[in-house]
Amino acid sequence: MARSVSIYVCQSCGAQTRQFFGRCNSCGSWNSLVEQSQPKVDGRRHRPGSDPASTPVARRSTAMADLGEQPMQRLASGYAELDRVLGGGLVPGSLVLVGGDPGIGKSTLLLQSATAMGRERSVLYVSAEESAQQVKLRWQRLQGCGADLQLLAETDLELVLEELEALKPDVAIIDSIQALHDANLTSAPGSVAQVRECAASLQRLAKRQNTALVLVGHVTKEGVLAGPKVLEHLVDAVLTFEGDRFASHRLLRAVKNRYGATHELGVFEMRGQGLEEVGNPSELFLSGDQASGVATIVACEGTRPLVVDLQALVSTTSYASPRRTATGIAVNRLHQILAVLEKHMGLPLSRYDCYLAVAGGLDVEEPAADLGVAAAVVASYRDLTLPAGTVLLGELGLGGQLRAVPQLELRLQEAARLGFRRAVVPQASGISSAAAALGLELLEASRITEALVMALGDGLVSRDESG
Ligand code: TYD
Ligand code: MG
Repeated sequence: MARSVSIYVCQSCGAQTRQFFGRCNSCGSWNSLVEQSQPKVDGRRHRPGSDPASTPVARRSTAMADLGEQPMQRLASGYAELDRVLGGGLVPGSLVLVGGDPGIGKSTLLLQSATAMGRERSVLYVSAEESAQQVKLRWQRLQGCGADLQLLAETDLELVLEELEALKPDVAIIDSIQALHDANLTSAPGSVAQVRECAASLQRLAKRQNTALVLVGHVTKEGVLAGPKVLEHLVDAVLTFEGDRFASHRLLRAVKNRYGATHELGVFEMRGQGLEEVGNPSELFLSGDQASGVATIVACEGTRPLVVDLQALVSTTSYASPRRTATGIAVNRLHQILAVLEKHMGLPLSRYDCYLAVAGGLDVEEPAADLGVAAAVVASYRDLTLPAGTVLLGELGLGGQLRAVPQLELRLQEAARLGFRRAVVPQASGISSAAAALGLELLEASRITEALVMALGDGLVSRDESG
């Protein structure tokens, strides 16, 4: 195989050198040189006879109207939760990147899905990290036997491309893109240049033969290993697989999807026999505690409502500046809510430490959780227990007003399904008839104090505020 010469291209100014420098000689920016391969002489990347100077100029664009009706085909991945996140299944010829921390279960998920798909289509699983024996062992454990699945344990890009071309599978899985290497580049596997070149070569081939390609990418904090960030603009969909290593459930999200909605959520649980889908994930995020400082909200992930418990602990501080920590919501959001409670309800929270946690390790980013956070904090401060079966929804304005929440009806349906009977929501939500049909008592409030009195009772306001 002829080795091509690499060049280093500055990503800021485009200057090229034959040698690597920490600082670009031309524009002076640091760490901006990235290795790139020049077209090889033996020509995989160079079509024979395609000398740009000698080919006659031909039109290549087509009128949109002349293009035939395009059927949107989808390949079922074998998992309803994965299909949901993909927007209905894998699209032939598309490139999907699945990112996540090492050990979170990416290989397990894709091997299981490959097995399920292998029952109906041709699937190639390329393992660049584990040997064929290791994959087989795992496969046996996952009880994959019975499916037709081709396995290739290989790290050389050229050989992987050859196999893909020979087999022309419907689906190919590359585990992982960081472990592949292109012999034409001198940089180490996993470096920016390698990851980008390997992914681009695979994509060219996959698009040509209409193979759906799934790449596994690791998220690492080390500088040497390029994270999947490098690939985000290249691929059609980016899924992230996340979860608490110490808990068994795993969340799959789409952060980019050219063929479906983003922010859809898929929930799995890691068991002894691999990953299992969780159809009713709300139960996972309910702590079941009837303690002071617990409030229940309904978060929405894409089109999926999740009933989630929040727990707060408020205690007298022994520090000069009180401690505030939040797990599962942004700590700045907590600061803001505490400031609103202090200003508009006169609670002396600046003399108290405040800890907040979302049950089940979920990340709740929505402002719709504000009222729930405020209720949990006040309940803990007052040592009160919120009445069972109540959910709280509302965004909190800096002036203490409650603002509307998107997809309220969807959230209330989920709460009602799980047996909740009361909902505190912002005024003029316009869903009183829908709530009545669900058998929910609807308490509408326009301000934070009003909402908390409704939820926690009058005891809240009548006590001494001296702290
Ligand atoms: P893995 O898929 O290898 O993670 P990744 O490819 O993202 O690095 O999953 C590794 C973890 O999953 C490992 O810690 C063990 C656990 N696991 C189970 O709990 N049950 C199983 O059936 C399997 C296959 C793995
Ligand atoms: Mg793996």
